[in-house]
Amino acid sequence: MGSYGDYDDLTAPHVIDIRSNVSELLSSEEIERSLKAEPPSFPSLLLWNEQGLQRFERVTYAKEYYLTNCEIELLKQHSHKIASRIEPSSVIVELGSGSLRKIVILLQALEDLGKPVDYYALDLSRSELERTLQAVSPGTFQYVRCHGLLGDYDAGLEWLQRFQNASRPRVVLSLGSTLGSFTRRQAAKFLGKFADALNHCVDGAVNSEPLMVIGLDGCKDGEKVWHAYNDAEDKNNEFIRNALDYAGRFLDNSVFQQHDWDRRGEWNEELGRHEQYLKPKRDIWFEGRCLKAGEKIFLVASHKYNSAEQQNSGLEQDSLNSRVGRHTSINTVTSPSLTALNLGQPCAGLYLLSTRRPN
Ligand SMILES: C[S@@+](CC[C@H](N)C(=O)[O-])C[C@H]1O[C@@H](n2cnc3c(N)ncnc32)[C@H](O)[C@@H]1O
Repeated sequence: MGSYGDYDDLTAPHVIDIRSNVSELLSSEEIERSLKAEPPSFPSLLLWNEQGLQRFERVTYAKEYYLTNCEIELLKQHSHKIASRIEPSSVIVELGSGSLRKIVILLQALEDLGKPVDYYALDLSRSELERTLQAVSPGTFQYVRCHGLLGDYDAGLEWLQRFQNASRPRVVLSLGSTLGSFTRRQAAKFLGKFADALNHCVDGAVNSEPLMVIGLDGCKDGEKVWHAYNDAEDKNNEFIRNALDYAGRFLDNSVFQQHDWDRRGEWNEELGRHEQYLKPKRDIWFEGRCLKAGEKIFLVASHKYNSAEQQNSGLEQDSLNSRVGRHTSINTVTSPSLTALNLGQPCAGLYLLSTRRPN
């Protein structure tokens, strides 16, 4: 690794392939298994190819999609506070980086504070990483170096624990309510695994504070949420329907013809989440199984977190002014304690979590 001052070559940021298996992350077998299960579902990874990522970026500009603007506001308000907690020479990994629109606010704050750090955008599409990283091409910052990591969350988890990273202070970010697509239990487990990884340190990293920055949606107003995912310009519809085109690249294309399918979005009050389904308009035979006309086939959910649920996920609600330092353990997961600083309510919440294990 060169010194930060050497970082003046003007080529695009480098994308590092950290996939354990360089074949596609999604397989035809997995799609087949999901569709033949009872009840059938689509793997949500079908959302995230190059086209899906571009269509999702358009969703974030829909006027009904309040989440992005809420988070931008929170980051503008709190980026210097967060940046001041991040140590020089940190490795910062953003899980599911998407368009990078928001992270640049935090990167600029780090730059303003003159903190030399390495930022790694982790996502599933090389071409999208290359495209989005152009916003932070070499020369944009003097202190902040930007890179891409091509791989899934598991690959990111393993990469964070490699010797060259575990010997440095590390920060993990998850913005855009990405954790909302997990069930509450899965989200708690996911956070727990990354908290464990951050606590696995070697060499000089032992004295540093392992941090996570998590963006969750706190809005439980069913109507407002429904409109966010069912916008008047159909941006979300186009994003979701791309899963059919992507599935058709793996399996019998005739099954996934756009004109044979509807999309449906529903607010589930009981589970506090918005759910999205694809529904065949006619009976469709797939590998000996009939996908019935009108049958709702689950694709993705977006969980919303009120304060009680945030506690259940290990995200304690502290107001900005209150003391940061209470420990709360992640429900259902044997994991290190988290100290949470809640940086915003009620629409979206940003949480700064210190994952250090109590002594
Ligand atoms: C809801 S989007 C959020 C994007 C961005 N962070 C934002 O705030 O707008 C979820 C992101 O996670 C990525 N993603 C989904 N599943 C993933 C996985 N298993 N491994 C790595 N990235 C994943 C998607 O490609 C997408 O960029």
